[in-house]
Amino acid sequence: MKQFEIKSTIKEYTSLSELSADDQELIAKAHLAANDAYAPYSKFYVGAAIRLENDEICVGNNQENAAYPSGICAERVAVFSASATHPNMKVKKIAVVAHSNEIKIDKPISPCGACRQVLAEYESKSGNIILLLMGETGNIYEISSVKDILPLMFTAGDLGVK
Ligand code: THU
Repeated sequence: MKQFEIKSTIKEYTSLSELSADDQELIAKAHLAANDAYAPYSKFYVGAAIRLENDEICVGNNQENAAYPSGICAERVAVFSASATHPNMKVKKIAVVAHSNEIKIDKPISPCGACRQVLAEYESKSGNIILLLMGETGNIYEISSVKDILPLMFTAGDLGVK
C-alpha cells in the first residue's frame, strides 16, 4: 500500500482593492450578471463572468425552471455561452458570485460538482482556468486551477479520447 496526498492552495483576499483592475472588472461583471439571474424558486442569484484569451468577457447566471432539474447554474450558462459564441477560444478566468435578499452571503460560493466537471473539460482542452469566488460581500478566493477543486477529475483521456 502507498499513500499520496492531493493538496490545493487557495489565495484569500480581504478586499477587492487587492486585486488587479482586470480581476475587479471581472468580478463586477459577475455581480451585474447575478442581478439578472432567473431564480424565482431558490431566490439565490448567482452570476459568473468569464475572461477569454482575447480579453472578451462572457457572462452567465442561473436559470431555474418549475421542473427543478431542468434549471442550470450560472457557471455552466457562462462557459457554454462562451464556447458557443467563441468556439476554441481559451477560457482564462471565471469569477463567480452570489446574491440573496433572504440570507447573508458574506463568504465565497464555490461551483457545484457538475459545474466543476464541466469547467474541467474546458480546462483540459485549453489550459488552466483561474477561479475568483466571492459572495455578495466579504473575502475573495483565488484558485489557480479547476483541478484544485476537483481532484481525480474524470477527463476525455480516461475514455481514450485525445
Ligand atoms: N447555483 C449556481 O448557479 N451556481 C453555483 O455555484 C451553486 C448553485 C444555482 C443553482 C440554483 O439555481 C441555485 O443556485 C440554488 O442552488
